[in-house]
Amino acid sequence: MLRTTSPRSTPPGETRAHRPTSFWLRLLKQRRERMYDEALDLSTPIEWSSPEEQEAAIAFFNAAFRAEESGLRQAHEIAGEIESWDPELAETLRLYGDEEGWHRELLTKFLAYIGGDVRPMGPTTRTFYRLYGRAKRHETIVLTNLMFETIGSTTYRLALRTAKPHPAVRQMLTVLTRDESFHVPLNVHFLRRVLEHAREAEGDDRAQRRLVPLYHLLTASLVASAAASRRRAKLFDNIPFKTLARAYAEQLGRLFVNADDLGFVPARPMLAALGLGKDDIYGHDDVISEDAAETAADRSKVIVEAL
Ligand SMILES: [Fe+2]
Ligand SMILES: [Fe+2]
Repeated sequence: MLRTTSPRSTPPGETRAHRPTSFWLRLLKQRRERMYDEALDLSTPIEWSSPEEQEAAIAFFNAAFRAEESGLRQAHEIAGEIESWDPELAETLRLYGDEEGWHRELLTKFLAYIGGDVRPMGPTTRTFYRLYGRAKRHETIVLTNLMFETIGSTTYRLALRTAKPHPAVRQMLTVLTRDESFHVPLNVHFLRRVLEHAREAEGDDRAQRRLVPLYHLLTASLVASAAASRRRAKLFDNIPFKTLARAYAEQLGRLFVNADDLGFVPARPMLAALGLGKDDIYGHDDVISEDAAETAADRSKVIVEAL
């Protein structure tokens, strides 16, 4: 988690000024300068307690690999289409996609190091990514990606505390946690820009309204996906289902109450089912803080904290 200093919620009726694309582009260019210098220290082999624990670790990092791959592909694809109306946003998307590509490279090495490889996806994951891969509207793609980023960074943060304590595992999780925390506010910016463009093109808010059912469906699916991932990865990350499902709902809830201009309000019954109340969602660290993102541009200054 990026430490932030300004928890807030926008007072009703007030609109916050947000940073322009040039701000994000500058940060990404700054990050790119040193990105490829950072290497994983994979010199100490991991001693697994059992072959099942090792399998669970391979499953955990395969899921991460697929998320990176999807983020990279979608960002580069929509960048090509956005080029015509906002070349600066297109360049920002490409640089963001490159960061995911770099994560994919790191994960490929890491998987080999833990005695695994990139595996074919299971039927559920395959269906999920296939449906996502078919999405055409930019706002659908960006919202889905933003929610993936949020649950990714939540999982990594929790795993930092509970997964097998080994320096290489820690380093891999720290890199992912740190960068995905930056990607969350960045994707909020992408979503705002894409919706703004749709509003100009269509003359009203229908793109935003179309997203509301998708937002609820995705929230429920992602919370439920915690059950499937527990079957495959829990022996490695040691996160109980209830903890993970609750953390997903909590972090997604906080994300959108802090970006309340997007119009996504978490469903109360779902929060209640997970034991979450208003106080868990409102008035917490701003997970989309642009100031925190600015600090995160210099990776060496980020303080990564477990959840
Ligand atoms: Fe990533
Ligand atoms: Fe990311």
